[in-house]
Amino acid sequence: MPRTAFLSTGFHVPSRLVTNDDLAQMMDTSDEWIVQRSGIKTRYWVDKGDTGVGLARVASEKAIAKAGLEAKDIDCIIYCTCTPDHFEPGNGVFLQRELGLTDIPAVDVRNQCSGFIYGLSIADAWIRVGQYKRILLVGAEVHSRGLDKTTRGRDTAVLFGDGAGAAVLGPISEDGRGVLSTHIFADGRYAEKLWVDGPGLAHDPFVSVSMLEQGVHRPVMEGREVFKFASTKMPESVAIALKSNRLSPTDVTLLVPHQANLRIIEMVQKAAGLRDDQVYINIQKYGNTTAASIPIALDEALAEGRLRTGDVLVLTAFGSGFTWGSAAIRW
Ligand code: COA
Repeated sequence: MPRTAFLSTGFHVPSRLVTNDDLAQMMDTSDEWIVQRSGIKTRYWVDKGDTGVGLARVASEKAIAKAGLEAKDIDCIIYCTCTPDHFEPGNGVFLQRELGLTDIPAVDVRNQCSGFIYGLSIADAWIRVGQYKRILLVGAEVHSRGLDKTTRGRDTAVLFGDGAGAAVLGPISEDGRGVLSTHIFADGRYAEKLWVDGPGLAHDPFVSVSMLEQGVHRPVMEGREVFKFASTKMPESVAIALKSNRLSPTDVTLLVPHQANLRIIEMVQKAAGLRDDQVYINIQKYGNTTAASIPIALDEALAEGRLRTGDVLVLTAFGSGFTWGSAAIRW
């Protein structure tokens, strides 16, 4: 049975750079507070006219071109986002249309910061059984329009950024290379610890002026709970990835963690027993781009020559749901 290889990656962020000082003009916060608590210095926000699918299209086109392919070679799209352009249908079909494709499946994955690893797990299963041969896996988010950019929402608003990352996945039969394992987890008991309550069909009416006045359409988070779980579950999932492949921390060339918070990443690194050079960090530039953060970081790591054929790459993520997971890949 073949394994799943990353044939290429690509990413795209919108052009509007937003600094911590820019945020301090909108709400009661400071560069010092944000850097100290999260490591984030800048993030990118969409401008008028931009959409999540628009960002995803550019990232996808870059990845497809880098693989030496054309859009028509893609036989399945898996689109991971928690910030869709519309309630219905999902972003997958809109991206399909933008790429000029018809008659292939477009799957939408709603697993927030863990979306890319969930999507990879699905893609890996399909590729190994031969169902699809060129899967476009996308993580893309537009957070900025949904954030509460007043002091009320400052604990959340300063953390998130917009962006898109994509990978083209296909079968590989070279000895030992490809996705070695994926492990995905969820615990819905914590669903409301980081969530957007509405608009939603659990409400009747599903949207109302009073809901909007209360701000239920903004993401809210119990930051400390999220921090506690993320810094436990991400290292746990890395340990599972290593154990199930009989690898030790010294075998890992690079860990690309979901870029949620520098302090969380540092705790993951310590708990996983990894050196600084084994962990890729770019949160300072982009903030938390949720499902896009791993493919953006992976594309940058590759551009910097951080992975060579045969190296061991580990991915880990944690996010709303709670959801979390890991993947081990022999590059
Ligand atoms: N600027 C300035 N002050 C802020 C602020 C901001 N952006 N956001 C919150 N504060 C204030 C709080 O109001 C509080 O003030 P008080 O002490 O007067 O009540 C103070 O800072 C400390 O708040 P607290 O929530 O205790 O801070 P914290 O140390 O827990 O850090 C987070 C807050 C959000 C940075 C931290 O909990 C975190 O990183 N959580 C994980 C978030 C995450 O990664 N989410 C995505 C996961 S995928």
